[in-house]
Amino acid sequence: MGFPKGFLIGAATAAHQVEGNNIHSDYWAQELLPHTSFTEPSGIACDHYNRYEEDIQLLAGAGLNAYRFSIEWARIEPEEGAFDETEIEHYRKVIACCRKYNVEPIVTLMHFTSPVWLIRKGGWEAESTIEYFRRYAAYVIKKLGAELKYICTINEANMGLQLAAIAKRFQLMAQQAAQKAKSAEGTVQVGMNFEKMMENMKVAAMENAQVFGTPQPQVFVSSRTPEGDELVFRAHKAAKEAIKSICPNIRVGITLSMHDLQALPGGEQFANKAWEEEFRHYLPYIEDDDFLGVQNYTRTLYGPSGQLPCPEGAELTQMDYEFYPDALEHVIRKVWEDFKGDLLVTENGVAVTDDSRRIVFIRSALAGVEKCVRDGIPVKGYCYWSLMDNFEWQKGFSMTFGLIAVDRTTQERTPKESLAFLGSYAK
Ligand code: BGC
Repeated sequence: MGFPKGFLIGAATAAHQVEGNNIHSDYWAQELLPHTSFTEPSGIACDHYNRYEEDIQLLAGAGLNAYRFSIEWARIEPEEGAFDETEIEHYRKVIACCRKYNVEPIVTLMHFTSPVWLIRKGGWEAESTIEYFRRYAAYVIKKLGAELKYICTINEANMGLQLAAIAKRFQLMAQQAAQKAKSAEGTVQVGMNFEKMMENMKVAAMENAQVFGTPQPQVFVSSRTPEGDELVFRAHKAAKEAIKSICPNIRVGITLSMHDLQALPGGEQFANKAWEEEFRHYLPYIEDDDFLGVQNYTRTLYGPSGQLPCPEGAELTQMDYEFYPDALEHVIRKVWEDFKGDLLVTENGVAVTDDSRRIVFIRSALAGVEKCVRDGIPVKGYCYWSLMDNFEWQKGFSMTFGLIAVDRTTQERTPKESLAFLGSYAK
């Protein structure tokens, strides 16, 4: 049957991962610390800041009709209260370029990176951030709102809690390793690694203090406290109100990172608890939104004693996720039980070297989305992550999620077959 007319078929990027030279942002600063946990700095990234037209042209030429990208707060407001009009003009040109090629721009206001000054003021655990974010959102919408239909306020607003859970697991492992090292004399390597890790953490804390004024800066992807978790959603609400008061017709939503949480017999309680944390407890903040951005990459399994590793023999992606495209359909159906607004798949994708596996992934994921649409679930579009191979945060440029390959030396773009394959779904 295919998708209804007007269904958005697009690809996504985020400013810091593709633009290059995002020098006023917290990530840029962290990447350059001597004891950074980044494998390499973002540098010029994909030089998308200068090459956006070529990239949008490739996207549109393959048939895609939507482009999700983010506006960089650190460019718009590099110093507190000092807004940079020339950067607004840059994004105005990007939006105009989308329109020129009949591509719907879906704009994210905050995709993980913040201006350094915001972090120096307490970052994503400080009450004042709500007002700062509202002010930034209002500024952007006053300038560019008339040209936009879709705004995602904050990308993967639930990321901080997910990271807190992972950090807790890591801490436990480190403690266990330390105990082992103490009790087993002679297993020097364990002891050595642990000590070095602690040493590195101390030095990194000092370096952070120099840049951010605090040894533990609260960037967007820091482990979040329950209060910080709530704060992010209050910032979303404040920004949404501001956007609506300026441009009532813009459709506003947030995006969430969601796993397909599957319980094996005995694992139900764990899976339910995880879903409550990952999604359901946010409902009071998002249920009146125009849409919800669904972002999914794989599934997570639970057994009677909690989370399980990937099944034996499963195909793994470069990210070590299980290759499991059916997860998207499951997540959409689960979200729809509680959220009754429109749904937009704002990210779904796979990091693989073999592009034919990407095609298989997209085909299966979209078959699932089609079934949901046929069943009356209002999914309005699908954006693949990512338009091009880019800077995968701490993992640097090693992960290839892209529909377009980017030569790291020449910046030359080479579309992969998956780009045209995805484009074939658009009407
Ligand atoms: C993020 C992207 C990231 C992608 C792949 C999502 O969590 O929004 O910025 O590159 O997943 O890991």
